[in-house]
Amino acid sequence: MLIGILAKGKNNEFGLNGDLPWGRKFPTDLKWFKWLTSQYKDAVLVCGSKTAQGLPPLPGRTLMKISKDGGLSIEDVMTMSVDKTVIVIGGAEIFKQLANKLDVVYQTVIQDNFEADTFVCDISGLVISEERVHNLDNTGTDVVFSTMTNEASDLRIDDLVEFKNFLKTIDKGI
Ligand SMILES: NC(=O)c1ccc[n+]([C@@H]2O[C@H](COP(=O)([O-])OP(=O)(O)OC[C@H]3O[C@@H](n4cnc5c(N)ncnc54)[C@H](OP(=O)(O)O)[C@@H]3O)[C@@H](O)[C@H]2O)c1
Repeated sequence: MLIGILAKGKNNEFGLNGDLPWGRKFPTDLKWFKWLTSQYKDAVLVCGSKTAQGLPPLPGRTLMKISKDGGLSIEDVMTMSVDKTVIVIGGAEIFKQLANKLDVVYQTVIQDNFEADTFVCDISGLVISEERVHNLDNTGTDVVFSTMTNEASDLRIDDLVEFKNFLKTIDKGI
């Protein structure tokens, strides 16, 4: 199974200077990322070499780099996803090549505009659940958390993780 997880601004803003365009302004989204990626036991996280450079350590999770310089290829990722859960976490170059291959997409859309130097392609799918949180982290900004599947996929809701399940687990300052 191939899963994608991403966060973007209203105009697909995705990265700035090797970091997120909004920096650390939305800690709840970072907690969601940590919780979500930890739900898939034995999954392998993959990302492009530029994203890998800016990532903090991800305890308890396995991360592999996609790179022409001794890393995975896109074909390696596809092959690995046949009998493993592979979670694509970025960046924009990698999503561009894998967007239409994803079985499941967990997408956060921050309802604001940001300065950015990297923009992600549109990734669509069948929306299984959608949760709009008003004024996330007291920023005055609404954020929409969506769980989507590929229209051709026969995944059931039980195979997926929803933002509302995460909300139940945290003592939220939302
Ligand atoms: N908002 C979010 O959810 C989110 C998530 C992740 C990242 N980001 C942001 O996105 C930005 C980075 O994204 P990006 O698009 O510039 O870079 P990226 O996708 O992270 O990495 C690009 C690199 O991946 C490797 N690559 C790409 N296609 C490949 C292929 N077919 N085969 C082998 N290797 C391949 C190449 O590495 P080599 O040059 O080593 O060959 C390429 O330079 C950062 O600002 C980061 O913070 C945002």
